[in-house]
This record gives sequence, structure tokens and C-alpha cells, in this order.
Amino acid sequence: MTDNLVWHPVTIDAAWRARIKGQRPCVLWFTGLSGTGKSTIANALELALAECGKHTYLLDGDNLRLGLCRDLGFSDADRQENIRRVAEVARLFVDAGMLVITAFISPFQRDREMARELIGEGAFIEVFIDTPLDECERRDPKGLYRKARSGLIANFTGVSSAYEPPLNPQVHIRTMGHDLPAIVAQLLDYLVEKGFLS
Ligand code: ADX
Repeated sequence: MTDNLVWHPVTIDAAWRARIKGQRPCVLWFTGLSGTGKSTIANALELALAECGKHTYLLDGDNLRLGLCRDLGFSDADRQENIRRVAEVARLFVDAGMLVITAFISPFQRDREMARELIGEGAFIEVFIDTPLDECERRDPKGLYRKARSGLIANFTGVSSAYEPPLNPQVHIRTMGHDLPAIVAQLLDYLVEKGFLS
């Protein structure tokens, strides 16, 4: 399907755009179960970065599934396509010079590896938002675990579809016993340490 296509070089490249924005672009790729706190933490982190004058963009699972990915469901193949699209969009935002945060369950190791390859090793930061399944179920902010347990939702992550935790994430956030400001501080510290923030 990519036959007869030619990549057009552009004059203003990624480095130029990043220089104008005065930042080093990257993707903070959040992964974790439904109800683990990905969207909440992503939102708080984006606010903290914006308050530092950074140019950011947050790609969130539920939001993208209401638009760009509205044709996709929750089979393994559809999740793979979801993550492929998100990774391609994140890549464009990195090219545009942004600090990108993605908040998707992204349950499969191989799909996250695909995202890492597309975005590029140096710009891809895998962030494991780690909350035990029983705690996610206890919180059940959208009432989805209850529905999944009663058979009303098929292929629900952690119930009837697998979640493969990252083996070696760049950042491991344990939400139990840590409040939101402490978690945001952990992420900001990582970005400073790695030279994405000064
Ligand atoms: S992913 O697996 O493809 O990465 P994504 O993060 O986009 O998932 O979407 C997850 C959100 O969709 C959940 O937070 C939940 O609100 C909703 N959802 C609906 N059905 C399911 C399901 N079967 N499994 C997981 N999440 C679901």
C-alpha cells in the first residue's frame, strides 16, 4: 500500500522545531490497568509541565477512542491497531517539538515495543502506572470491572484479557501509598535527571 509513494523532505526539521520551543521532545508512554490512575496522573503531570512553560500534548485512551480510533474495539488486533495509531500520532508530536504524554492501557509488550521502535529509543519513556488489580477493581471509577465480572463487557483487561506488565520500565510508579503530588514529583525528577527538563 506504500508503493508509489515518495517521502518529501521538509526544510524545517524536528531539531529546528524543538529549538524554537526550547525543549527536548519526548513521549512519556503510560501503561497500566484500567482504573490505575493513568489519566489522572497524566493530567496532573501535563499541568505541572505547562506551569514550567513547556509545550505539551496529552493523548488519552478514552478520548482517542471517541475520535481517531472510534472504529476500534478491544480484541488483541484492535488494541494493536489502536497503539500503532497512537504511536504514529505521538511520533508526529515529537517531530513537532512537544513533550507528549500518552495514557493507554497498552497491555501487550510487543505493541509497546512497536511504539518504542516507531518513536525512537531516545525519546520513548515507558512509565508503568502500577496499581494492583484488586485495588483497581475496588476503586472501579467507571463501574467497568463490575460490568466485566458480570459478563457485560468482553475482553476486559485484567478480567478476560491479559495485561503484560513492563519488564524494565524507565519509570515505575507505585500508586499505593503515594499521593498525586509525590507521583508528579517522581516523574519531574526523572525528566530533569535525563535532561528533558532543566
Ligand atoms: S488499549 O488496550 O487499546 O490500550 P485504551 O487505553 O485505548 O485500551 O482504552 C481503555 C479504556 O477503554 C478503559 O479505560 C475503559 O474506559 C474502556 N474500555 C471499554 N471496554 C474495555 C475493555 N474490554 N478492556 C479495557 N478497557 C475497556
